[in-house]
Amino acid sequence: MKVNGKNYQAAWMQENTVKMVDQLALPFRFRIKKSDSWQESAAAIRDMTVRGAGTIGATAAFAVLQALLASNQKNYLKNSRHAVQEIKKTRPTANDLFYAADSMSMEINKSNSFEEAKKNAKKKAFEIFESYLESGKKIGLHGNALLKKNARVLTHCNAGWLALVDWGSATAPIYAASRGGKKPFVFVDETRPRLQGAKLTAWELAQEKIAHCVIADNAAGHFMQKGEIDIVITGADRIALNGDTANKIGTYEKSVLAKENGIPFYVAAPLSTFDTHTLSGKEIIIEERSQSEVLRVLGQGKKRVEEVEIYSKKSTAKNPAFDITPSKYITGFITPKGIIKPTKNEIRSLFK
Ligand code: MRU
Repeated sequence: MKVNGKNYQAAWMQENTVKMVDQLALPFRFRIKKSDSWQESAAAIRDMTVRGAGTIGATAAFAVLQALLASNQKNYLKNSRHAVQEIKKTRPTANDLFYAADSMSMEINKSNSFEEAKKNAKKKAFEIFESYLESGKKIGLHGNALLKKNARVLTHCNAGWLALVDWGSATAPIYAASRGGKKPFVFVDETRPRLQGAKLTAWELAQEKIAHCVIADNAAGHFMQKGEIDIVITGADRIALNGDTANKIGTYEKSVLAKENGIPFYVAAPLSTFDTHTLSGKEIIIEERSQSEVLRVLGQGKKRVEEVEIYSKKSTAKNPAFDITPSKYITGFITPKGIIKPTKNEIRSLFK
């Protein structure tokens, strides 16, 4: 997608260097961070310099490739296995991280020599990267059909191009509708504690010149009740076989409110986010992040970007990063293969 008129992806690889839009600096500064080793790339996933299911998937694939390219004939199997294990420890919930790291591992293991492994792994990493670009475009195409002219859409967190390399998952239908002249309006949940909605989605929409407003996380019910929201579209981090969906904390309550108010609730995701080995949401591991993310906020001060405390030091906080939306609250999944119902059979049919 374009930033100040120039085309960017959220992460990409040139030579042995992974380049990524530094999402910790947005919206105050747009800068590209470079990583020259798999350890630095893994750290960027862990500290959320890169974030969002698809973007961490692509970055993980590139990180495994970096580990391989830094190896030699003797140690490449041991090195890449170690890197895959460590990369998989960076964040536990998003399926794409595991899908990408395991796909890379398979390519390396099935190769008969170091040279062959490098060739196969490079091909695989770029296939994974390209598949996110394609998925975003196709999700946009299918999801656009759900948006009428002047549609008022609520979205949560950032499932935009920053989260899926390009186009995005939840935002792709909005971008497609806007480029087709439908003039959508977007309600952006601010998404505490890290504010991915306010800081990232709102910034993306402004770059695309799409009308939007940021709302406090607890305001969505009010706007739904007043009939000001036509449709909710979110992304996903992991979708179980029965359609239960892990997504950013707060998604569950939006889905319940949508059902109560008769508003369709769609989840947009590439196929790599579906985890057919996980039977229901009960089995999904929810990442617990540091309480400092709740106790402190990062913002633009008079002179610089700074982090400030917003609670008394005497209070503690809890910080689950995701919650599970049961499939009964989901109207459908917008996938690159079309829109499906949240049932086992329809999810299985995606992989036939
Ligand atoms: O913790 P994050 O910011 O990496 O969480 C990911 C998300 O932004 C969402 O949950 C998103 O809706 C799905 S990612 C396409």
